[in-house]
Amino acid sequence: MLRTKIAGIGHYVPEKVVTNNDLTRVMDTSDEWIQERTGIKERRYGTKHKETTSTMGTRAAEIAIERAGIQKEDIDFIIFATLSPDYYFPGCGVLLQRELGITKTEIGALDIRNQCSGFVYGLSIADQFIKSGMYKNVLLVGAEMHSMGLEFTTKGRNVTVIFGDGAGAVVLQPTEEEGKGVLTTKLHSDGTYAEKLAFISPGSHGGYHHDKMGLDTDFGFGDEEFGEIFLNHHMIDNNMHYPNMEGQFVFKLAVQKFPEVIMEALTEAGLTPADIDMLVPHQANLRISQFVQKRMGLRDDQVWNNIQKYGNTTAASIPIALCEAWEAGAVKEGDLVCLAAFGSGFTWGSALIRF
Ligand code: ACO
Repeated sequence: MLRTKIAGIGHYVPEKVVTNNDLTRVMDTSDEWIQERTGIKERRYGTKHKETTSTMGTRAAEIAIERAGIQKEDIDFIIFATLSPDYYFPGCGVLLQRELGITKTEIGALDIRNQCSGFVYGLSIADQFIKSGMYKNVLLVGAEMHSMGLEFTTKGRNVTVIFGDGAGAVVLQPTEEEGKGVLTTKLHSDGTYAEKLAFISPGSHGGYHHDKMGLDTDFGFGDEEFGEIFLNHHMIDNNMHYPNMEGQFVFKLAVQKFPEVIMEALTEAGLTPADIDMLVPHQANLRISQFVQKRMGLRDDQVWNNIQKYGNTTAASIPIALCEAWEAGAVKEGDLVCLAAFGSGFTWGSALIRF
């Protein structure tokens, strides 16, 4: 039976470490508050003008390609997941393709906008391409440069303290080895509460969704015949070009959906939580991971957490964590690894992989 295996994995985080105390210089917060509510001690920020989401993704991809033992020209499809792209368009897939220098083969590049679950969605897509025999070396990248678009004021503190920059990548290949590879992926979404965790402007919404949902928000639209909707001075003056989040709402849904979607995958594969060698959850918040661990009855050595060092790196968090776990020898040949994510949309998903 043809399945998809991870042939190579890599991650990259920028050098600059930003501690919780560093953030107290620009907003009213404290190391104690951040650690107590999120578990985060520090995060990394990319270097302005020198690093971008796509360049960080490229660094991670180079490592994954080398570890897969292939040449960059062997890649036959690129999937790039991010919510913080270099450009509004084109997406990061083609920028990574250029940065990697694989322009001659003219392979396809797909961009995924599924926020925290982007990597799991990307894995599922790659899995279908590989199982169908269409591609033999798919490069899947999750990368984020959050630090360029956060609100560094007390008003933005509930979001800003959580996020960090980084990238992770895998090379996916077909395998016929018995029992190995991606056993299943499960994807879900529910747009009912899209605005609860969102980056709304710039955008083409024109206030439509807010009106429909009865949300009383003034976007400052004037009576100009053309334009002024995507981004206007009112939005900038009122700091509306930053992400917003109803934290407690997100928390409650996350702790419900994580266990649900993990159990869905396990049940389909005829397995139980006890069979998991390593759960690599999206690093949303250490408290969410701990809640999920407890709910699933998992030991500490069955769950990989690194949010303490990097914060929440959205689409990059799972591949960074998986790469670190693999490098540390905590994920080995034959292990059953479960990936699970929940985030903005809301979208969520899981994957079971036999290494
Ligand atoms: N520093 C100090 N005080 C803060 C900060 C901060 N960084 N942020 C908010 N506060 C204040 C609030 O203003 C509020 O003050 P008030 O009581 O005077 O009004 C108080 O702290 C409590 O605010 P809450 O939002 O109720 O705090 P909560 O305990 O819910 O913690 C948090 C906030 C950490 C965001 C939490 O709700 C959470 O983790 N939610 C899950 C969301 C999440 O993990 N998001 C990650 C991205 S989405 C994803 O990846 C799934």
